[in-house]
Amino acid sequence: MRKKTNTQRRRFLKNVSLTSLALGILPNLSKAENSVSKETPIQDDCVTTTRDYYGQGPFYTENAPLLSDNQLAKAEEEGTRIVISGRVINLGCSEFIPNTEVDIWHADAAGDYDNDGFNLRGRTHSNEQGFYMFETIWPGKYLNGNQFRPAHIHFKITPPGFNPLITQLYFEGDTSIPADAAASITEGDFDATHRIIPLTETTDGKYEGTWDIVINGDGVTMGVNDLHLEKGMIYKIGPNPFEQEIDIEYGVFQPAQVSLLVYDIQGNLVANLEEEYMGTDKYTAVWRPDTSLVNGHYFVTLKVNDLQVHYLKVIKQ
Ligand SMILES: [Fe+2]
Repeated sequence: MRKKTNTQRRRFLKNVSLTSLALGILPNLSKAENSVSKETPIQDDCVTTTRDYYGQGPFYTENAPLLSDNQLAKAEEEGTRIVISGRVINLGCSEFIPNTEVDIWHADAAGDYDNDGFNLRGRTHSNEQGFYMFETIWPGKYLNGNQFRPAHIHFKITPPGFNPLITQLYFEGDTSIPADAAASITEGDFDATHRIIPLTETTDGKYEGTWDIVINGDGVTMGVNDLHLEKGMIYKIGPNPFEQEIDIEYGVFQPAQVSLLVYDIQGNLVANLEEEYMGTDKYTAVWRPDTSLVNGHYFVTLKVNDLQVHYLKVIKQ
């Protein structure tokens, strides 16, 4: 059931070119607070997630347990906590894919795999909105020949009724990437470029990264590819992380029925910030959730004429 837990305000901002708004958007929450800048890339590319050159590798174990409360690492696991989340999207980025199995495994902080049990191994699923999330620890490096492999997380990602994608995720700034046979590939079938993501420290001492998975599968129409440039977008959100309230600035690029909705990681609608016919303009909404709302990750999505054209992740803490 929808409940309006926010207070809303909207203001007309003059002298703002919608074209300039379209050039300023970022999917990465750490940069989302920055003002519009020509340096910031736009989220208009739809890049198919690639396989990793090293394939499944020797350390996969079948039938890993389902994650509980999105936790891959136990609370007592040594290491720096990291949270990875994003959305599973079909090829062409026109649909999000719910119920995709995301099978995850990686080394511990010392670079060792648990090959006897299921420590740092687990499965989760994208939710009804296509979002997935898990918390774990920053993987350690291990020697591969005479080279350390960069820190990485292994994935086997299976949309319902489709073949799995087996790949690996790396982290920006890792000094072992350039010499790694897999992570250093920048073109072709094993191009790792879009699987090297930034991790940003949050105020609770954890690190946070966003990774959208673009994969062959059947989903639910959302129209993220380019539509946010034509129809509307969320271009600034902050503060993020936030404690009590968060400002969401967005643009509507054609007169349309517009909804601004907030979902939790389970896919439940937790706030309906806006739902009305709106003209072409720039708007601001404020989400001030009830104090009883649990801390965690939330996904603010903009719908234009029933198409989900854009989302950004926010963290309440
Ligand atoms: Fe590995």
